[in-house]
Amino acid sequence: MQTNSKVKITVVGVGYVGLVTAICFAHKGYKVTCLDINEEKIKRLNDGECIIYEPELEEMLSENKERLTFTTDACLAFNDCDYIFICVGTPEKEDGSCDLSFVYNTADLIANYINKECVIVIKSTVPVCTNEKVEEYIKSHLVNDVKFYIASNPEFLSQGSALKDTLEASRIVIGSNDKIAIEKLKAIYDSFNLPYVITNLRTSELMKYACNSFLATKISFINEIANLCDILGADINDIRLGMGLDSRIGNKFLNPGIGYGGSCFSKDTKALVKFASEAGYELRIVSSTIDVNESQRYILIDKLKKDFSSLENLNIGILGVTYKPNTNDLRDAPSIDIIDKLLEERANIYAYDPVALNDLSKVFKDKIYYCPRIEDVLEHCDIIMVLTEWKQIVDIDRKLLKDKIVYDGRNCMR
Ligand code: UDX
Repeated sequence: MQTNSKVKITVVGVGYVGLVTAICFAHKGYKVTCLDINEEKIKRLNDGECIIYEPELEEMLSENKERLTFTTDACLAFNDCDYIFICVGTPEKEDGSCDLSFVYNTADLIANYINKECVIVIKSTVPVCTNEKVEEYIKSHLVNDVKFYIASNPEFLSQGSALKDTLEASRIVIGSNDKIAIEKLKAIYDSFNLPYVITNLRTSELMKYACNSFLATKISFINEIANLCDILGADINDIRLGMGLDSRIGNKFLNPGIGYGGSCFSKDTKALVKFASEAGYELRIVSSTIDVNESQRYILIDKLKKDFSSLENLNIGILGVTYKPNTNDLRDAPSIDIIDKLLEERANIYAYDPVALNDLSKVFKDKIYYCPRIEDVLEHCDIIMVLTEWKQIVDIDRKLLKDKIVYDGRNCMR
């Protein structure tokens, strides 16, 4: 702790990855400054409010508050700092490619303000060669004549288990073309006592896309097999069991349903296909994964339409709207597209979610009914769609569902 407290780490971006990274380094005894352009978020964090819904994060933020500084002042953030973690968003552009404008805005600030030797670490998911380009960019814009190193250090945390995924990560990937950068980064990660994968910049960048795309592919694969089971009268759950017990396959990410959502899989699979194609390689499997996922969202609506000639004026209950449980995140949540489609068909929607109703109301305003309790949904609707496997929903007393028609979008109501 003595030495850690002398090291200054600056984390840029207080989104999921940035905030969790910052709090975990503070927990390890480092002094961490978080920089973000969003004044409201910084104010709320300074007031002690944890701005994302993540188990135990709020407690850990409060336990480590004396080691954490939140600011919008880049000069303060980069002054005298030893490590900079770039954790800004890399959203999807309309053509599916990755928008790097936040990364380059950060590079500009870094070039302006760093005033001592430091390691610049890109944690944001970025296309292959971005680290090298950012290094050149900072070099050519540097105001103070200081040495810096570039390293890639992708993040594999999942929302809902972000702290565990960071403090007990399955691996820490460090990519750099410079041995000193690797040693310096290992020096701050050694206290985590986790396995390392050490590689070069391009490999590290591509590894992140390969991991996310492989997991997405597992999901689309099992969804196609589940669709086939429906047609052939086979049991997908027995198939999952039989597949999962083969250790070469593994039992994770084989739960069928309405497909993946969230801030990563969709964006990263599309970006990978795009930059692979620009490099002259057509990634056919990942392209199919994307196609399957896009149609999978509507699988319950197809079933509903087979069962009812018209959806007009049907009261439909939606249980769960977040893209997965234990998060309030609605980014790329299948529920949004599903509700949109149901509204197009003129159904009446009654939605329940334990944490996301407020955010949902910003999307659908007065077009749907918001139910703070599951019972409120059941009172109005005989048709129920389960779109997120929240514990509250999975554990519903089955007697309450006795007369309901349940469309289970997460294969969780057995
Ligand atoms: C994912 C990756 O897991 C993580 O390593 C990466 O850093 C960021 O993206 P996250 O988006 O938090 O994490 O969620 P994850 O738990 O992976 O689930 C993604 C989506 O896939 C969810 O919508 C989930 O419901 C769906 N999913 C997951 C399935 O449909 N079936 C499964 O078997 C597993």
